[in-house]
Amino acid sequence: MSEELQRGLEGVTVAETRLSRVDGDAGELTIAGFPLAELAPNATYEETLFLLYEDRLPDGDELASFRAALADERAAAPEAIEAVVAAAERGLPPMDAVRMGVAAASLARDGDEDPRTDARLAVAQLPTVAAAYWRAREGEDPVEPRQDLRHAANYLYMLDGEEPSAERVRGLETYLNAVVDHGLNASTFTARTIVSTESDVISGVTGAVGALKGPLHGGAPGPVLDMLREAADRDDPAELVREKLDAGERIMGFGHRVYDVRDPRAAVLQDAAESFYRGRDGTAFFDAASEFEDVAVDVLADHKPDLTLETNVEFYTAVLLHGVGVPKELFTPTFAVARAGGWTAHCLEQLEDNRLIRPRGRYVGDEGRTWTPVEER
Ligand code: COA
Repeated sequence: MSEELQRGLEGVTVAETRLSRVDGDAGELTIAGFPLAELAPNATYEETLFLLYEDRLPDGDELASFRAALADERAAAPEAIEAVVAAAERGLPPMDAVRMGVAAASLARDGDEDPRTDARLAVAQLPTVAAAYWRAREGEDPVEPRQDLRHAANYLYMLDGEEPSAERVRGLETYLNAVVDHGLNASTFTARTIVSTESDVISGVTGAVGALKGPLHGGAPGPVLDMLREAADRDDPAELVREKLDAGERIMGFGHRVYDVRDPRAAVLQDAAESFYRGRDGTAFFDAASEFEDVAVDVLADHKPDLTLETNVEFYTAVLLHGVGVPKELFTPTFAVARAGGWTAHCLEQLEDNRLIRPRGRYVGDEGRTWTPVEER
C-alpha cells in the first residue's frame, strides 16, 4: 500500500463517474457526454437532472411526469421552515440555514428511506428553504411554492412572490445547468463519502452543503460582486487588485485546483450574462466586469508568474445572478440549489457500486508516551 502523501488529495482518482468529465488541461467540461456550452443554455434544469439520473434525455411524457414528481415534493415540512426562519431571526449565515433546512427534508418522507425519493426531496426542497430564509431576513412571510412553475421559475417566484420573466428564468436555468456537476469537487466528494457508509442521501446532501459553504469552494461569488462594486468607484482597477494582493488577500473568482486555463463555465456564464444584460438594462455593468476580468488576470500573472491564475466559475456567476435578481446573500445557496442535482446523482451512482471511502492518514505525532495520572501532571 502506497504511503505517498497527496495533500488535499490533489491529483488522486477515487471513483469512476459517468456524470461529468472535467479536462483541466484543455479547459473542457462535458455533462453526461454533452459539451457544457450546448447543454447549459438550452436545457431546462429538470432535463439536466433527468439526464444525470437516467443517463439519457427524457421524451416529452417522461419530462412532464418527472417535472410533476419534483414539483410535488416542493413544500417543506413546517419544522424545516421554522428552523430557517429562526436562523434568519438570529442572523445566522444563509448556508447554515440551508444546511438545517435541507437536513429536515427527512421529515417530508412518506414511508421508508429510499435513495431516489430522498434525492428528489433534497433537490425539490432546497430552493424552498433557501427562499423561506431570505423572506424571513427581509421580514416577510414565506411564499408557498407553485406546482405549475418550472424548478428555476418557482425558486425566483418564492423569493419575491412575483412570476419571473422568461429572460430571468432562462438566465437562472443556464446558471443551474452550468454548475450542476463538476467531477469530484469537495462537496460532491463529501456527499459520496457519506453515502459510501450506507448512510442516506439527505445526509449526503446535508454534508455537501456544509462543504460548499467555505470560501475556497462555493463562497466566492458574493465577494466578487463586492469587489466589482469597489472597482466601479476606482479610477484604476489594477491598483485595487494589487492592493488586495499586497494585503495578502486572494482575488475571488480566480484560480482553480483543476483548471490551468480559463474555467469553461466562465465562458458559458459570460455569454449568458451578456445576452441577459443586452436584453434588459444595457451592458454597462457587464462590460465593466469583463474589463475588470482582463485587468485582474494580468495583475495575477505578474503576481504569480509561475502559476496560471485564470477566471473561475464564480466570477460570472456573480455577474449573471446579480442581473437575474438573486440577492448576493443567496449566491452560495443558489449554487447549492444547482449542485443538489450533481450531489444526488453522485450519491445514486456511488450506491450502484458502493465501496466504503476510507483513505489513510500518515501519523506524525509523538511516539512512546507514558500515562501520568491527572494529580501528578
Ligand atoms: N488570488 C491570489 N492568489 C491566489 C489565488 C487567487 N485567487 N488563487 C491561488 N493563489 C495563490 C495562492 O496564494 C498560493 O500562493 P502561495 O503558494 O504563495 O501560498 C498559490 O496561488 C497556490 O494556491 P493554492 O491555494 O495552493 O491552490 P489551490 O489549488 O488549493 O487553490 C483555489 C484553488 C480555488 C482555492 C484558489 O485559487 C483560490 O483561493 N481562489 C479564490 C477563491 C475562489 O475563487 N474560489 C472559487 C473556486 S471555484
